Amino acid sequence: MELAKKIIGAELELFEKHFKEAVKSRVSLLDRIMQYIVKRKGKQMRPMFVLLSAKLNGEINDSSYRAASLVELLHTATLVHDDVVDDALERRGMFSINALWKNKIAVLVGDYLLSKGLLLSLENKDFTILSILSSAVKKMSEGELLQIEKTRNLNFDESIYYEIINGKTASLLASSCAAGASSVTQDETLIQRMRDFGENVGMAFQIKDDLFDYGEASIGKPTGNDIKEKKLTLPLIHILQKVAPALKKQIIYIVKNNNNDKEKVKFVIDHVVQYGGIDYATHKMIEYRDKALLLLHQFPASETRDALEELVRYTTDRKF
Ligand code: IPE
Ligand code: IPE
Ligand code: MG
Ligand code: MG
Repeated sequence: MELAKKIIGAELELFEKHFKEAVKSRVSLLDRIMQYIVKRKGKQMRPMFVLLSAKLNGEINDSSYRAASLVELLHTATLVHDDVVDDALERRGMFSINALWKNKIAVLVGDYLLSKGLLLSLENKDFTILSILSSAVKKMSEGELLQIEKTRNLNFDESIYYEIINGKTASLLASSCAAGASSVTQDETLIQRMRDFGENVGMAFQIKDDLFDYGEASIGKPTGNDIKEKKLTLPLIHILQKVAPALKKQIIYIVKNNNNDKEKVKFVIDHVVQYGGIDYATHKMIEYRDKALLLLHQFPASETRDALEELVRYTTDRKF
């Protein structure tokens, strides 16, 4: 992300200050947890998308910074809740909030972050930005719920998978890019194009995340967790459409009933690899990436556009 850091390095530092300020609390337990959250920051890709989307369409201003903070607040809130839902004990290379403070507190911390985001926008009358992001929050909840619903019946096709990841991940990236643009322009065509761009980046982003789960690399959060949680993702969905009915039944049985049995899970993973599930998902990810790049190239060439392109490529090439 060299180019992005070069072009908006100073702005990112300002954003970080802004974010830190935004999560302060007078309740000492909350404040301690917020300090922990600020310290173990993530890749901050969404704020980068907000700020670069603003810069691509005009001049970064105060409401662009607030949009960046709002997005990161909402993202962090959903991660805190997601780790409760997924029973995940590691996040960003450290213990998750639920691992350290238990589920009850993690649920409240997520709510706190969400409310801080809402207030930040309301206090500054950023109604358009708030409306753009509220629709993403709604879609994220729907996506996560659809995913849970589908763990009951593990026989669903690719289109449902895309619906899930569109809701839980792509919607926030779409809104991040739209909000960035909307902080500097009223031109609906430009805002919509940024939204479509972000949506495609987001689809590629989640497919990459789902591929990580099949890997062994250390990425700062658990791998192998999706099968354990009965989450069917693209590599597995794809091969289930290809294998013989008996094998399909066997694999589904393992995901349903033996998802904690290392040997059996390995059997599933080996089949996913052998039948081309990883390759297929990688191919789909690249397709979404290229759709995003095509939309991006509708904007005139500039250093900012290059930085966004770099960020898109980072989305699919990253190591964590
Ligand atoms: C994780 O997002 C959640 C997903 C949508 C897969 P990131 O990978 O951007 O998380 P951080 O913020 O860098 O930790
Ligand atoms: C994305 O799904 C979660 C959100 C969008 C909140 P995952 O459950 O795969 O995300 P990770 O892998 O825990 O980051
Ligand atoms: Mg998770
Ligand atoms: Mg994941």
